[in-house]
Amino acid sequence: MASTIKSLTSFLFLISSSFLLHSSFHVTKAQAQSYPPLVEGLSWDFYDNSCPKLESIIRKQLKKVFKQNIGLAAGLLRLHFHDCFVRGCDGSVLLAGSASGPSEQDAPPNLTLRLEAFQTIDDLRRRVHKRCGRVVSCSDVTALAARDAVYLSGGPNYSVPLGRRDGLNFATRNETLSFLPPPTSNTSALITSLAKLNLDAYDLVALSGGHTIGIGHCGSFRNRLYPTQDPVMDKTFAKNLYGTCPTSNSNDTTVLDIRSPNRFDNKYYVDLMNRQGLFTSDQDLYTDRRTKGVVTSFAIDQQLFFERFAYSMVKMGQLSVLTGNQGEIRANCSIRNVDLFLSSVVEDGEKGLSQF
Ligand SMILES: *[C@@H]1O[C@H](CO)[C@@H](O)[C@H](O)[C@H]1NC(C)=O
Ligand SMILES: *[C@@H]1O[C@H](CO)[C@@H](O)[C@H](O)[C@H]1NC(C)=O
Ligand SMILES: *[C@@H]1O[C@H](CO)[C@@H](O)[C@H](O)[C@H]1NC(C)=O
Ligand SMILES: *[C@@H]1O[C@H](CO)[C@@H](O)[C@H](O)[C@H]1NC(C)=O
Ligand SMILES: *[C@@H]1O[C@H](CO)[C@@H](O)[C@H](O)[C@H]1NC(C)=O
Ligand SMILES: *[C@@H]1O[C@H](CO)[C@@H](O)[C@H](O)[C@H]1NC(C)=O
Repeated sequence: MASTIKSLTSFLFLISSSFLLHSSFHVTKAQAQSYPPLVEGLSWDFYDNSCPKLESIIRKQLKKVFKQNIGLAAGLLRLHFHDCFVRGCDGSVLLAGSASGPSEQDAPPNLTLRLEAFQTIDDLRRRVHKRCGRVVSCSDVTALAARDAVYLSGGPNYSVPLGRRDGLNFATRNETLSFLPPPTSNTSALITSLAKLNLDAYDLVALSGGHTIGIGHCGSFRNRLYPTQDPVMDKTFAKNLYGTCPTSNSNDTTVLDIRSPNRFDNKYYVDLMNRQGLFTSDQDLYTDRRTKGVVTSFAIDQQLFFERFAYSMVKMGQLSVLTGNQGEIRANCSIRNVDLFLSSVVEDGEKGLSQF
């Protein structure tokens, strides 16, 4: 078994090196990146007049941020996923008061998003608004930050359709739980869950490739270790995971992609072929006959993965967006304008009172 895996790995290595030799072919393909149709109200050049420096402000700042803390790249990517899966990409996940929002202390551990990720988004928003005025939405900043998280950690540089507006409604706990499939899901459950969002099995495998960066908590994969080890899991890999999570209530974390934890590449799929996927929702993609072939095709062709990932990200990034006069452009990503301006009026009022 071990030798089969080893020879498979070297087989894959040979294939990927031979692809390198033909990189000029892939460059041509990359330039011909195809995208899903744009929904009405979004466009590629939405801010060309109102905020022409938008993309460079974000990229320049994130380059600095990731130099300090590359782990934040996965956090920003995850934020965009959560935003789009729950209520559509309308920035509702960013609101203090949403079920997995920045102020939520009771979110189940599987939902906790990193506070620094929220802060980074609002910091980017502040920089952009300082330069251009309040014209760019928090949901667009989140979509661009996710793209740069991918690109700056080694992944594809795809274009992001822009023009989203920020929502006025909080993401409830129910909505949050019902649209975000747990990491213990098998492929059938994932396919059903994504179908509700008009995403198909191909999108599922491509978007799961986001797990090429980031970390997972013991609680999200303890079902594969306790009470008994998932027989699908590679033995050595399992042994190391028992080291990280020695008991069924351990709270430690480990990397999602053991081959290149901070690099956005196709090694995640190589992990799956070697039975070294971390979550059930990862590993089952290589067990289920509907998705196994796609996993293999991404494992042997990184350029194909990059193209499909970009395609599916743009598709996901347009889920139930608000455009035109819908919603608003938030002045602070974690607060609706009505609450923000209300609270500043109240504060002024209080100040006034105290002077008496
Ligand atoms: C990345 O893509 C953006 C948007 O399409 C483009 O403006 C930029 O020039 C690209 N940057 C690089 C380094 O390829
Ligand atoms: C949340 O979902 C549960 C189960 O699906 C349902 O019983 C409950 O009424 C929902 N709560 C709200 C506030 O929608
Ligand atoms: C998170 O855990 C809760 C139980 O605490 C479970 O109902 C839910 O399905 C899980 N969701 C995710 C996204 O992991
Ligand atoms: C997948 O999970 C669902 C719900 O958790 C379960 O009912 C189903 O039997 C599972 N399918 C397979 C093939 O394991
Ligand atoms: C993990 O965290 C939970 C909740 O905070 C706590 O009850 C549990 O004892 C912790 N487990 C360990 C092994 O520290
Ligand atoms: C946005 O609101 C949050 C929550 O009230 C606050 O902590 C943060 O400082 C605000 N950001 C800015 C730039 O004012």
